[in-house]
Amino acid sequence: MHQWQVVYSSVTGNTRQIAEAMAAAVEVAPESVEEAAVRDGAEIVAVGYWLWRGGPDPKMAAFLPKLHDVDVILFETHAADNRSEHAVTAFARAAYLLGSNCRILGTFECQGQVSAAIRAKHEKMAADDPHAKAGGWKTSIGHPDGEDLAAAAAFARKMEEKRERLDQFAARMAAKQG
Ligand SMILES: Cc1cc2nc3c(=O)[nH]c(=O)nc-3n(C[C@H](O)[C@H](O)[C@H](O)COP(=O)(O)O)c2cc1C
Repeated sequence: MHQWQVVYSSVTGNTRQIAEAMAAAVEVAPESVEEAAVRDGAEIVAVGYWLWRGGPDPKMAAFLPKLHDVDVILFETHAADNRSEHAVTAFARAAYLLGSNCRILGTFECQGQVSAAIRAKHEKMAADDPHAKAGGWKTSIGHPDGEDLAAAAAFARKMEEKRERLDQFAARMAAKQG
């Protein structure tokens, strides 16, 4: 197993739950962004944020530039639908904030329900308001669910295997070059 660090930012707990599932799968303790420090020796850093205005939330946005020379996994929770343009673009926004020479090993996303207060606000919005129309505030209810958590754990294991294969490939290339 490589040296993992799992760092998350979360207000209502959705992203924290995903972080916990991933961290358990790779046998480390998840760290909240408020307490986490960049760790020397970490080989894979999984960073999780909730979407705020279409990008990583402000706390994670401040943490991402501190990462350098390491494999990174980006994971996010959002109200928007999975694989929506909005959610996918957010990965690019997060990647743009990373420090130098980070390799993105993979990305994981799932919906995370918004708080009851925000749901109530959306319910009152005019039907043609873009936020109300997007509908994520409704379709995200109940997420992350058990399936999302299982997918997050499976994804972390898959990323560990992927890194192992990449290491083996790099070793083979190095041996060939002699
Ligand atoms: C102030 C605020 C802004 C948000 N902006 C977005 C957004 O731009 N796109 C989106 O899909 N979800 C947005 N959301 C929904 C959250 O990203 C989502 O519910 C997330 O799962 C919350 O994560 P947490 O429980 O870890 O805090 C927003 C929520 C809040 C409170």
